[in-house]
Amino acid sequence: MVLGESHLSLVAGETGGLVYRGYDIRELAGRASYEGVVHLLWHGEAPATDPPAELARAIAARRALPDGVVRVVDALAPELPPLEALRTGLSALGDGTYPYPPTIEQGIDLVARTPTVLARHVRRARGEPPVEPRPALGQVANFLWMLTGRAPEPERVRALETYFVLLADHGMNASTFALRIVISTQSDLFSAATAALGALKGPAHGGAPARVSAMLDAVGSPERAPDWIRAQLDQKARLFGFGHRAYKAEDPRGLLLHDVARRVADPRRLELAEAVERAGVEELRRRKPNERLYANVEFYSAVVLEAVGLPPELFTPTFAVARTAGWVAHSLEQAASNRLIRPDVRYVGPPPGRRWPNLPAP
Ligand code: ACO
Repeated sequence: MVLGESHLSLVAGETGGLVYRGYDIRELAGRASYEGVVHLLWHGEAPATDPPAELARAIAARRALPDGVVRVVDALAPELPPLEALRTGLSALGDGTYPYPPTIEQGIDLVARTPTVLARHVRRARGEPPVEPRPALGQVANFLWMLTGRAPEPERVRALETYFVLLADHGMNASTFALRIVISTQSDLFSAATAALGALKGPAHGGAPARVSAMLDAVGSPERAPDWIRAQLDQKARLFGFGHRAYKAEDPRGLLLHDVARRVADPRRLELAEAVERAGVEELRRRKPNERLYANVEFYSAVVLEAVGLPPELFTPTFAVARTAGWVAHSLEQAASNRLIRPDVRYVGPPPGRRWPNLPAP
């Protein structure tokens, strides 16, 4: 169903392509900075220099959390899963000072502070003190720095930056749709981002990659992959990291993340993942020849995020941190020509005219 028009990203489902404002992601992966892609999505043009100095400085300057947000995050139970903590943190960031319509300045706060909320909670849960953001670091390197308190290795930053670039936007997916509905009511950016995160969490959307890691662990070794996959499908279970509503060809982000995984993943883990991918695609093709099911972005996301050193419970929150770029772009676009998004349903319940039993006399 086509909801309307967008200038932001073209998802070519039949051929397996993804384009941000006219730029093929194959052109950008491993070369453009995350801040550069933020600039492209928000302003419509590639920055004159990459990273874009002014925007990167503005984001870096806004990373620290206001006191009220620190109090909320520090009041959370340490054992609260990071995704739930982030959802509460996003809500706390929307402190009533961000009126509709959304602006670039508001977007800078969302992009800058989302990783700070997440890293603060994660460190608290580990019993570690918070690590203050470092303005000299780019958004991706600073995220790793705030999580670990160590200067991140350039190869890891590069891998994660490619992931951030590839996950920055993706058309009218479920979380973006949720965000646009909230903005269309003239509500604020942080309320919309909180709704979007709720949609992203589900395993049919952004909640799949931790389950991919669990699947790889369960398979254990490459030669077990075909039997394991067959047993799963015999039980009518879904294979996480396979299938996509839009792509009827290979997910271009998955192909590019596979390349990243070849560079950074443990070779044995990569060999296992490739065996599971092969077995999954073959078995799904055999059982559902008309569906054209391939590995989706989440499959090699899991392998890359593992290699970067992130634990599975941080996979979906990290996806959300990257996707804030697209969420802001869509909120700006929605507000620029806003009309309430109010779908309808076809009523199929009992016909009108039923009588409530035993009502007291009027
Ligand atoms: N494993 C097994 N069978 C599958 C899978 C899968 N991963 N994906 C689709 N199918 C089968 C379905 O069983 C269905 O067959 P049936 O009609 O005989 O029951 C057929 O293919 C069509 O599936 P639908 O669910 O109708 O397709 P839809 O477009 O609604 O689903 C989705 C897309 C939700 C992503 C699905 O492929 C899935 O559940 N995948 C696993 C979860 C996953 O990887 N999620 C991440 C998606 S990527 C992202 O959002 C960032």
